[in-house]
Amino acid sequence: MNAMSRQQPKASDFLQDALTGLSGAQKILPAKYFYDAAGSALFEAITALPEYYPTRIELALLRAIGPQLRAAIGPDSLVVEFGAGSGEKAELLLRALDRPAGYVAIEISASALDGALLRLRAAFPGLPVCAIEGDFSVMAELPLGLVPGPRLGFFPGSTIGNLTPPEAEQFLCGKRAMLGADGAFLIGLDLAKDPAILIPAYDDAQGVTAAFNLNMITRLNAELGAGLDEALFRHEARWNSAESRIEMHLVARAAQTAHIAGQTFSFRPDESIHTENSYKFTPAAFKALAARAGWRIEACFRDPQDWFGVFLLRPA
Ligand code: TRP
Repeated sequence: MNAMSRQQPKASDFLQDALTGLSGAQKILPAKYFYDAAGSALFEAITALPEYYPTRIELALLRAIGPQLRAAIGPDSLVVEFGAGSGEKAELLLRALDRPAGYVAIEISASALDGALLRLRAAFPGLPVCAIEGDFSVMAELPLGLVPGPRLGFFPGSTIGNLTPPEAEQFLCGKRAMLGADGAFLIGLDLAKDPAILIPAYDDAQGVTAAFNLNMITRLNAELGAGLDEALFRHEARWNSAESRIEMHLVARAAQTAHIAGQTFSFRPDESIHTENSYKFTPAAFKALAARAGWRIEACFRDPQDWFGVFLLRPA
């Protein structure tokens, strides 16, 4: 259980995904490439921004609902977290639970994974802990040899909102099989609200989110030799009401050209690379999505403003 399983995303994946993503009419880059060491550090800084309310509210919720979670989830759970980040939320959850059996972290960023493990080993010295470095969305099964116990999936941070609805449905469906018939799934979700609150959360005054987004250009240059001028790109957060999502784009201020692996990609002025979606849910829409994937909502905890929800799911 203490053995580390490391499945690092290969550099060739970034090359392939960049070549594909920059070839379409709307250029895109998969959001998982945000999270190198610099990107993960910037992301941690985002979570502390005054405009970025989701982390603060979710942490406060997790603190407040500890006793209810303990009662609803029951003893001896093996907690499996998809995208562990700093491990701060897992620490709160593990503190709330009755005799947690162990903790498994699946995290794409090696630096974040190391930090989360340090934190949890210090907080819970005897707890079996397992680290898996990799992309949680493609992982169908957990490694063998984990401690027994009902499995509790943990997917905080509204990360499910970074998947498209079909991806989210597939994710939820796949994790139902992984977590088992006696399993449960605890999911944190940013709720639909006024774009006047949403937009600044993704375009803060200090420019941290801009730096996080622009790190993609830095990586294209450093790792793929794209030769783009980072100063010629700006960060933009857009509210797409038809899709109920915030979109992050990197917009070219002027025409320019990227050269990657012998191919040329030109940018028109104001042309963008779409780097991320963050879907915002109504409780009813999430209930329907969960139901399509074979889950029912056993409990839902929300802050008084109804800005963020923590949902406890059981197999339907
Ligand atoms: N899942 C969270 C959200 O959508 C955190 C997040 C992911 C995020 N990518 C981001 C926050 C980019 C700001 C910018 O809010």
